[in-house]
Amino acid sequence: MMPGAYPGLGHLAQFARDPLAFFTRLRDHGDITAWRLGPKKSVFVHRPENVKQVLLSVEKEFSTGDDAGYAFGLFAGNGIINTSGPFWRRQRKMMQPGMRPGRIAGYAATMVELTDELTEDLARSCSSGQTRDVRVDMLALTQKIAAKTLFGADVTGDAAAVGRALDVAAREIGAEFRGVTMFLPNWLPTPGRARLKKAITAVEQVLYRIIDERTAAHAAGPAHRTNDRPDDMLQLLMDARDEAGEPMSARQLRDETMTLYIAGHETTGNTLVWAYHLLSQHPEVFDRMAAEIDEVVGDRLPIMDDYSQLKYTEGVVKETLRLYPAAWLLMFTAKADVEIDGYHVEAGTDVWMSQWATHRDPRWFPEADRFRPERWVGDAASDIPSHAWFPFGGGQHVCLGNRFALVEAVLVLATIARRFRIDIDPSLDLPPQPLLTLQPGRNVPARVVLRSQADHLPA
Ligand code: HEM
Repeated sequence: MMPGAYPGLGHLAQFARDPLAFFTRLRDHGDITAWRLGPKKSVFVHRPENVKQVLLSVEKEFSTGDDAGYAFGLFAGNGIINTSGPFWRRQRKMMQPGMRPGRIAGYAATMVELTDELTEDLARSCSSGQTRDVRVDMLALTQKIAAKTLFGADVTGDAAAVGRALDVAAREIGAEFRGVTMFLPNWLPTPGRARLKKAITAVEQVLYRIIDERTAAHAAGPAHRTNDRPDDMLQLLMDARDEAGEPMSARQLRDETMTLYIAGHETTGNTLVWAYHLLSQHPEVFDRMAAEIDEVVGDRLPIMDDYSQLKYTEGVVKETLRLYPAAWLLMFTAKADVEIDGYHVEAGTDVWMSQWATHRDPRWFPEADRFRPERWVGDAASDIPSHAWFPFGGGQHVCLGNRFALVEAVLVLATIARRFRIDIDPSLDLPPQPLLTLQPGRNVPARVVLRSQADHLPA
């Protein structure tokens, strides 16, 4: 057992004060260590082979946790991220086609188009010398990309109101995640919960309206079934049928779209913020990335086909996800007694893993604190043990949007780097805040600098 537990509270205080340091201490304490979060029996695993064992036996031996928290539960309802067992399997099957490579190629065009719009704003800031906030820019961009790929154009008229409501919801979910409110009974009203409910109602009104309009259009005639048909994730979910030929209910469509929205934009947005932070500290990495982008993309806008050639840029994203994993913590519950590497885990025990702790372990990543995208390029990548890097989890519940996220991050970096360098003061102190996602706890001011393309174009 990890030392320092208090009666009744266990290690709650240490966990809440500084979870990243706490999980690093647990890692350094031993291969598998017992600890307690309040009354809950917990163990922490971090070695890649143990992470692998747990991830690959989720559903069979572990469930995805029985309590997502009040706020997240209220927001995402019965969405795929909150479920396991046969219902989860049904949903996963119905949603998976939305993330097939062919679909992602379609989303890629939206990713580039919206990033290109942002570069026009960046151009204005560049010529006026105005400072940008990278955090605001990246979260707004990934939010727009999520909204457009999920709901197409239908949400445009309400975009500002929906955006504000979703912001409130994300803040309340984040605040609960580490606060004492995590332990409050669900029936207890708090001001935060009232704000959250109001925000959810606002988003639901828009969502149900869109679903109703589309259902009515579909019933009205064939036009909707051909050219006019929206080409977005919501439509795909509306058209999906389970094995019994049943569609999702309107409530389930609401739960899944809100899940995709919350799972999809803050994670990728913060990954991009961390990428710009690291690139500003390592100008030589930026130069190498920019040279690759110049060579592959040249003068035009990036397209999906470029992705497979932008290997170093992808290495930048993977290395960013290693050092600053947007999802920094995973927890599963043992369904029955189970052995992990000779350690007996009793049924009902919560098994925790932290990407932060494993990704920064020098046993799996030499010079673990250094930003070295070349680890991910060519043969070097085969030296990395399986499951030493698991930013997207693994096994059957592996992130549904993992390819979407990698493609998005690479194409955003490529679209912007064609024209600009984003310079954040390399000495800016940005301690990561482990909330729902790992994020900088402050604004991130930056200068936009026009690149001199000639320096980087191949001879
Ligand atoms: C850098 C970006 C992202 C990171 C780091 C990330 C990370 C994760 C992680 C760690 C999980 C849990 C996996 C497990 O339990 O083994 C997960 C699940 C999930 N993610 Fe992501 N994610 C990202 C982007 C996205 C995007 C863009 C989408 C959708 C558009 C998405 C949708 C989902 C869904 C639906 C699940 C639940 C899958 C299931 O339980 O079957 N994620 N993600």
